[in-house]
Amino acid sequence: MPAIYSTAPGKIILCGEHAVVYGKPAIALPVNQVWTKTAVFAKPGSVDGEIHIIAPGVGLDTNLSSLSRQNPLQRTITLVKEELHLNNLPACEIRITTSIPIGAGLGSSAAVTVSLARALAKFLGHPLPNETINRIAYEVERIHHGTPSGIDNTVITLGAPILFQKGAQVEPLEILKGFTLMIADSGFTSATVEMVDGVRIRREQNQPKYDHLFEEIAKVTLQVYDALCHGDILQSGSFLSENHLLLREIGVSTPLLDEMVSSALSAGASGAKLSGGGGGGNVLAVVAADKIDRVSAAFLACGARNIITTTIQGKIGAVDE
Ligand code: MEV
Repeated sequence: MPAIYSTAPGKIILCGEHAVVYGKPAIALPVNQVWTKTAVFAKPGSVDGEIHIIAPGVGLDTNLSSLSRQNPLQRTITLVKEELHLNNLPACEIRITTSIPIGAGLGSSAAVTVSLARALAKFLGHPLPNETINRIAYEVERIHHGTPSGIDNTVITLGAPILFQKGAQVEPLEILKGFTLMIADSGFTSATVEMVDGVRIRREQNQPKYDHLFEEIAKVTLQVYDALCHGDILQSGSFLSENHLLLREIGVSTPLLDEMVSSALSAGASGAKLSGGGGGGNVLAVVAADKIDRVSAAFLACGARNIITTTIQGKIGAVDE
C-alpha cells in the first residue's frame, strides 16, 4: 500500500512578533524552501493500535505507546483521534522528516503538527479542514510555548501570507509587488517559550513602557502591511529596521543579531530585523536583486550559518520589476 503524505512549510514573522502575544497585529509568511513531511504507511499484518513513529530529526524511533500524553506527537495523534471519534487506530508506521532547523524561529514545531495531523487524517480516510488542523496545531503549540499567539500554526496551516491578530478573523495578505527576502541563521538557537516569558516578566515590572512599545510595534506593522498591499516594501524597508529597534528595546535582541542587522543595512538591504522569538534564531532582510550578493557576504562575515533567499510573490510583476 502506498504511503499517505503531507508536507507543511516553514514560516517567518515579517513584523509584529511578541506584540502579537498582547493582541497587536503581526505579519507572517510561509517559507517554502524548508518543510516538514509526514508519511504514514499501513502495516496490514500488525495489531490495531500498534503505531511506530520515526523522526530522525529528533532521534526518535519508537512505539507511540512509549511517549507521554503530553508529548507533542502523542498529543497531535490524540487530538486527531478525538476529532474523528476514534478509539483506536489501524496499525501504521509514521515517518516525520524535516529540513526546518529547530529553535531557529522558522516554525519547526507547528510544521510537524500540521503535517502529522493532515497526513494521519488523510490516512484514516477523513481529511480535516484547515480550521480543524489549525485548532489542533494551536493546542499542540501550547505544549511547546505556553501562551502562543497562534500566528505560527495559522500561517503554516494556510501556507499563505497573513495579517494576524489574536481573536480576529485572519486576513490573507495580498502582496502587490513581489520582493526578495533573505533569512540568515545566526547559528544560535533559543526557546520561544523562554523569550516570551522574559518579555512577560519585564512587562510586569514596567507595564506602561512595554505597552507603549507594543503600540509602536503595531504602528510599524500596519505601515508594513500598507506597503505590501499598496506600495513597495523595498521603499518601506525602514519600517522593518524600526521594528528591530523596538524588539531590541523589549530585550529580545542580542549583540550578534544587532550586528547582523546593521551589517545587512550597511551592505545595502532596504530593511532588516530579527525575526521570531529572538535571543538567537534568524535575521531577515528585504533586499533589491542587485544587493543580494553583498548582503549575503555581510551576513556570512558576521558568522551566519545558513542563508535562505526566497522570493515573495506579488500580484503584479516579478521581483524588482
Ligand atoms: C514566535 O514565532 C512569535 C512570538 O510572537 C510568539 C507568538 O506569537 O506566539 C514570539
